[in-house]
Amino acid sequence: MEVKFHNIDQVDDSLLKYAVIVSRYKGKWIFCKNKTRKWELPGGTREEGEPILNTAKRELYEETGAKEYDIKPICAYSINSYGLLFFAEIKELGDLPDSEIEKIDFFDDIPDELSFPLYHPKHFDKVRFMFEKNIHKELITQRLKLRLLNKNDRELIFKLRSDLNVIQHTGIKQYTNIDEADPYIKKIEQGMEDFSCLMWTINISSINSPIGTLCFWNFSSDKKRAEIGYDLLPEYWGQGYALEAIKAALPFGFLQCGFNCILAYPVEENLASCRVLEKAGFNLIEKKSCKEVNEDCIICKYKINKG
Ligand SMILES: CC(C)(COP(=O)(O)OP(=O)(O)OC[C@H]1O[C@@H](n2cnc3c(N)ncnc32)[C@H](O)[C@@H]1OP(=O)(O)O)[C@@H](O)C(=O)NCCC(=O)NCCS
Repeated sequence: MEVKFHNIDQVDDSLLKYAVIVSRYKGKWIFCKNKTRKWELPGGTREEGEPILNTAKRELYEETGAKEYDIKPICAYSINSYGLLFFAEIKELGDLPDSEIEKIDFFDDIPDELSFPLYHPKHFDKVRFMFEKNIHKELITQRLKLRLLNKNDRELIFKLRSDLNVIQHTGIKQYTNIDEADPYIKKIEQGMEDFSCLMWTINISSINSPIGTLCFWNFSSDKKRAEIGYDLLPEYWGQGYALEAIKAALPFGFLQCGFNCILAYPVEENLASCRVLEKAGFNLIEKKSCKEVNEDCIICKYKINKG
């Protein structure tokens, strides 16, 4: 059974039967140990006539003892029936009321022993990704600022994707009109909502216009593996900017997004890209021919694991 996520306005309120709450307290994620099961997220069934927000608040209190908190709905989800997923930032915890919960604990990551291993990792990842993305809108390095792509970046996207030097090794179709950037940015923005990709623009701190992009994309279905991609306007090549940006993105991918490994697939001729990956700590796993690109094309598979 698959967990599917939906925008809140796509699901009629009367269909929402459950509330699940991913919550934080003092920088840690809260999980509850059920007396007869394992670790789980607070949550439960909506009572007759109960507003769904009240279900979430009631369950949060009953299962964690939360007394003061900010809570907000994130999205609807469906497994067999529909529920609403919430995020709560807990400010004050009281005693744990008498319930089916034996104890709560505080985690940096999702615990291994879960009551619902098919569902709760999906709920958790969805909220964690949203949370981290909102908190870490920018990644700062010595010379660079990486900030999330938005619709104002159409000129950058057009400059990159219309430049044959930039796209020659990537299989990207050359843009000829700046309007082509808009649907692309829209797709990326939607992907950032759905936890299926993340893209930053790369900016030199002292200059006000972006010089390239860096992204995580092609996530595995369990969200534990992602591909990294990057490009820079040619006038900024050879100054170590790509390496500096990748080095900032990797810990974000491992710690904040929860990836176990990150992959990259440059073509063999893309010496700059292969070199940058190696300098960033990626290992060459294999080379294979890629006839879909052309007869002689060799693709290199690079990988880096969470250290
Ligand atoms: C790949 C790319 C992002 C690298 O950016 P960059 O900022 O120039 O990279 P860096 O300066 O950090 O490092 C480049 C390294 O590759 C080396 N390099 C560059 N061109 C090279 C070449 N033709 N042959 C051998 N090494 C080369 C550089 O010498 C440098 O290594 P060094 O620091 O040991 O000297 C940039 O070339 C680019 O945007 N290319 C087009 C898009 C692209 O191909 N993206 C990757 C798709 S997989």
